[in-house]
Amino acid sequence: MTSAEVGSALIPEEALRGFCGECFRECGLSGEDAELVSHSLVQANLRGIDSHGVTRLGIYVKRLRRGLINPRPDVRVVGESDATLLIHGDNGMGQVVGVRALDLGVSKARKSGAASVGVSNANHYGAGAYYVERAVREDLIASAYSNASPTMAPWGGVDPSIGTNPFSYGIPAGRHSPIIIDMATSVVARGKIILAAREGKPIPEGWALDSDGWPTTDAQKALEGTVLPTGEHKGYALSLLLDIMSGVLTGAGFGQHVNNMYDDMDTPQNVGAFFQLTDIDRFMPVARFKERVDQMVEELKAVRRAPGVEEILVPGEIEDRIRRERLSLGVPLGAEALSELKAAGKVCRVDFEDYVVQVQKGGPG
Ligand SMILES: NC(=O)c1ccc[n+]([C@@H]2O[C@H](COP(=O)([O-])OP(=O)(O)OC[C@H]3O[C@@H](n4cnc5c(N)ncnc54)[C@H](O)[C@@H]3O)[C@@H](O)[C@H]2O)c1
Repeated sequence: MTSAEVGSALIPEEALRGFCGECFRECGLSGEDAELVSHSLVQANLRGIDSHGVTRLGIYVKRLRRGLINPRPDVRVVGESDATLLIHGDNGMGQVVGVRALDLGVSKARKSGAASVGVSNANHYGAGAYYVERAVREDLIASAYSNASPTMAPWGGVDPSIGTNPFSYGIPAGRHSPIIIDMATSVVARGKIILAAREGKPIPEGWALDSDGWPTTDAQKALEGTVLPTGEHKGYALSLLLDIMSGVLTGAGFGQHVNNMYDDMDTPQNVGAFFQLTDIDRFMPVARFKERVDQMVEELKAVRRAPGVEEILVPGEIEDRIRRERLSLGVPLGAEALSELKAAGKVCRVDFEDYVVQVQKGGPG
């Protein structure tokens, strides 16, 4: 998708980061945590994952203001062994809890060769790529799983009972950009249907069923029904596995017991997450591993292409290109997204336009 197709304004990433950070500070987050959450949202936009970017500011602010998210959580280790950590998120922002858990896991993986980190009592953690990219910068292979509120049915069912639980993997490379695999277990992330509904646009067939189990292209009816799993029964099976690791195993909510960020405005979400980190050095020198990943990427990209295909890509490559483009041109935002940001800013008494103007003048932002 090109910038021009997406939106009506190109906003510099520093302005978005500054604005969202100020809103989170106004909601009670520490300066450091406000910056972290804001950075994670803007990174999603920079990678072209607009469904998990600054469009989430409004609902996060709403939940923080209603006391449904703890702005100053005491994120703590409640279980530990040589290669495992169990983290209680104290109902903090998903990104704050997620990054603390991940960073503890990174240190443990350095000492033990590998680490598995379970997280309970957290909230929506946004795009999974954010966490694995952070670990990849430390030359680790990383995976990140999260569960989500139930919006998919078990294969053959009609009632929403399991999340579009996302999984992400990050693999360091040498000459090439890291391989970043990041996806929902549904045909598409539900955030894309939310965006379509807000913009009054239809969705492609095959994305969702209505509340009676019939296929629909009406985004609003899809939100009232269920999102379809990717690869039919296979996506359902994967989603179940991810919920068992991030929800059942960690003590967090699972299946129907993860509360919906948009609809359950009385109770915290109790989202769970699970990170796994592998120290490459315990298997082979990092440089040799990266060389082998590069070889694999190059061999894949060199295969004969099907008719009409211009280029073979590896996961993360599209997003990497979009990030480069958006870092120089700005993040494209549609009229709807802009007015949501302004509205969230109003609630927090932070003026969106001030931030954009300040950055354009070379000020703080
Ligand atoms: N926190 C949550 O509750 C939650 C829930 C669901 C989804 N999400 C997030 O939603 C985001 C979007 O998920 P999605 O499933 O719509 O992703 P997607 O379908 O846009 O991309 C999935 C993966 O496929 C790769 N890819 C795309 N085209 C490719 C090609 N031609 N060749 C090779 N690889 C290619 C991408 O790089 C990516 O790794 C993710 O960031 C995910 O973490 C979060």
